[in-house]
Amino acid sequence: MTDSATVPGSPFRKAILMAGGSGSRLHPMTRVINKQLLPVYDKPLVYYPLSVIMLAGIRQVLVISSNRDVPAFRELLGDGSQWGMRFEYAVQQEPRGIAEAFLVGEEFIAGEPVVLVLGDNIFYGQGLREKLLVALGRDIGATVFAYPVRDPQRYGVVEFDEQGRAIAVWEKPRHSRSRYAITGLYFYDAQVTALARQLKPSLRGELEITDINRWYLEQGRLHVERFGRGFAWLDCGTEHSLLQAANFVEMVQERQGFKIACPEEVAYRMGFIDAAQLRQLAGQFRNPYGEYLTEIAESG
Ligand code: G1P
Repeated sequence: MTDSATVPGSPFRKAILMAGGSGSRLHPMTRVINKQLLPVYDKPLVYYPLSVIMLAGIRQVLVISSNRDVPAFRELLGDGSQWGMRFEYAVQQEPRGIAEAFLVGEEFIAGEPVVLVLGDNIFYGQGLREKLLVALGRDIGATVFAYPVRDPQRYGVVEFDEQGRAIAVWEKPRHSRSRYAITGLYFYDAQVTALARQLKPSLRGELEITDINRWYLEQGRLHVERFGRGFAWLDCGTEHSLLQAANFVEMVQERQGFKIACPEEVAYRMGFIDAAQLRQLAGQFRNPYGEYLTEIAESG
C-alpha cells in the first residue's frame, strides 16, 4: 500500500471517522451496541461513511470511538489491509464534541490537512465523487457540504446571502433562517488542529464543529458545496431516520442490483485491491453478500 493519496495533487491523505457518542437517543437499541455498528439493511452503519472516505481515495483512517467500543470496531474493520487501507484507532474518553477529534487525533494528523466524517452519515447519489474531487483539490481553507432539509433545527446550519455566499453558520438554531443543514463530511487544511486547541466548550459542554466552521467563514476560507435535490443525505440519529435509511438502501439496491457502500467493492473499483483479493474476501461469506462480491470479481 502506498501512503500517498490516490487523487493526484491532492494534499489530503488522512481521514478521521468519528464513531463515538453515547447513543442515548437510540436507547435501548444502543445500550450495549454502538450506534455505528447497527445494521442499515445489509451492512453496519459505519460502512457507509467509510465508503465515502475510500471513494475520496483516502487510505489512512483514524477511527475514534469510546473505550468500550473501540475493540468492536477493531474486530469489524481490522487494520484495513484486507481492503488496501490502513486503520488506526483512538479513544475519546467522554463525548466532548465532534471537534475534539482533532485533539484526540493530533498525532495521527501530524500537521496535515484532514477529512472528518461522522459515522452515522450516509451520502448517496450521482456526482458525489465530483464534489469530493473539488474539496480534495483545495489546500487552503475548509470545505463543507450543505443539504436542504425540512428540519434544519436538528443540525448545523449555513445561511446564504442573495448571491449564494455563505454568511453565517449556527449549531441547531431554534428558528433557522436557512433550510441548509451542514452534513457530517468536512475537509480541513493543516490549521485545524491548532484551531481546535483554542476552542471552548459550548453551553451543551461540547467542542462544536460549527465553531471551527465559523472561524473559517470569518477568515473568508469556508467553501460550501451544495448537494442538490437528486442527492440523498441521510443521518441515523433517530429510530425513524435509521429505518428510513434501511428502507432507502433496500429499495435502491433491490432495484439496481448494485450495493450502496460496499467497502470490498469500493476497494476493488478504486484499485486498492485486485480481483484475486476480492475473490478471497468473497470466500469469507456464504451468503448473497459473498455472491455479490464474486460476481464483481468475475465481471471485472
Ligand atoms: C452533528 C453536528 C451538526 C451536523 C450533524 C450532521 O450533530 O453537530 O453540525 O449538522 O452532526 O449529522 P449531532 O449529530 O451531533 O447532533
